[in-house]
Amino acid sequence: MKFDFNYYNPTKIYFGKDSLNNLEKELKNYGETVLLVYGKNSIKKNGLYDKVIEILKSANKKVVELAGIKSNPTYKQMMEGAKLVKENSVDLILAVGGGSVIDCSKAISVSAYCDEDPWEKYWINFKKVDNKIVPVGSILTMVGTGSEMNGGSVITHEEKMLKNGRVFSAEVYPKFSILNPEYTYTVPKNQMVSGIFDTLSHLMEQYFSGDDNNTTDYVIEGVMESLIDSAKVAIKNPKDYEARSNIMWCATLGLNTVTGLSKTQDWEVHMIEHQVGAYTDCPHGIGLAIVSVPYYKYIYKYGLDKFVRFAEKIWKVDGKNMTKEEIALAGIEKLSDFIKEMEIPTTLREIGATEEMLPLIANSTVIMEGGYKKLTADEILEILKKSL
Ligand code: NZQ
Ligand code: ZN
Repeated sequence: MKFDFNYYNPTKIYFGKDSLNNLEKELKNYGETVLLVYGKNSIKKNGLYDKVIEILKSANKKVVELAGIKSNPTYKQMMEGAKLVKENSVDLILAVGGGSVIDCSKAISVSAYCDEDPWEKYWINFKKVDNKIVPVGSILTMVGTGSEMNGGSVITHEEKMLKNGRVFSAEVYPKFSILNPEYTYTVPKNQMVSGIFDTLSHLMEQYFSGDDNNTTDYVIEGVMESLIDSAKVAIKNPKDYEARSNIMWCATLGLNTVTGLSKTQDWEVHMIEHQVGAYTDCPHGIGLAIVSVPYYKYIYKYGLDKFVRFAEKIWKVDGKNMTKEEIALAGIEKLSDFIKEMEIPTTLREIGATEEMLPLIANSTVIMEGGYKKLTADEILEILKKSL
């Protein structure tokens, strides 16, 4: 029923400059063996790896490592981690990184004791988890996905050319997540803006559906405004603590289910990006930004009043003497200006897509039903052509 919902989020959040101090206390809740999962080299370069190892040692943990998780983590890496968990009877998976590392850790958690092929079971057939799972904790270093406080796990199967997302239920959410905005200072600018746009996209995917005028829409607008204000500060001064802190919390709120409560949701932009990502391996938020403007220009007329509200409330479009249509389009233009202000590429060519790829991407994109317009594969192809 419209407006009805259940809400439960079990992730404990430690937020702030000293939040790592809570790791030792958390480790006491788990057994001896920890699988430390991280990316390529950023945490070794910025010193976080040494700090975490020191805490694990002083807590007398046996540490097994899985390093090199790719941005857009792969099926192969998930299976490698699952093997390590089983061989070493791992008690806790500690993810130190961005969405890719945390998503991969959740994937390892559900796959280690799965008797079937976990890809088929969980990412193709979306079965309920009925095998043993291993708890995950996270230390977030790159902001955007919200993976630190949700059940999402997006995995790329390279051989099948598929990037599939799965939202697991609460038992797979990280048990705790440590969020220190200062850890994000070393994130390269293209990844910082990718994360900012990813968050904005999560908010828009949840906002542009239904016309309920419910509390959730007002919450989304507040988070969008804070995100956009802080993004404008961070692009000029990436070490502005207040801005990075606001962006970090907006990202967590943007996909910890609070901003989706009681709403139908769209997610078509994400479905298109996932397949763009499968073919180009682009940073997730960059792919989203590129397809968003052509997508919204295509669907706005099916949800005109909401696009007018978006233009007036978020972008302060003064609609005097303008038609609804003009106001809505002016709002989408402001979104396009924001993408340029964030120095984000605006064409698929810039991220390595070719004309030949477009039909393959369009035909493998999942079609959603919660937005203002259910697209066909041909319409997705048109949007991709406009994005090229
Ligand atoms: O590998 P390292 O060396 O760590 O470098 C990473 C990586 O290259 C770097 N980085 C991270 N923290 C850093 C840093 N560099 C310097 N200093 C730091 N502190 O940033 C790069 C990108 O990291 P990644 O984790 O790939 O980025 P993001 O957080 O955007 O995650 C993207 C993945 O999450 C999925 C995406 O599809 C993509 O696969 N998503 C997950 C969702 C979820 N769980 O709910 C929802 C999202 O919509 C999204 O689909
Ligand atoms: Zn996203």
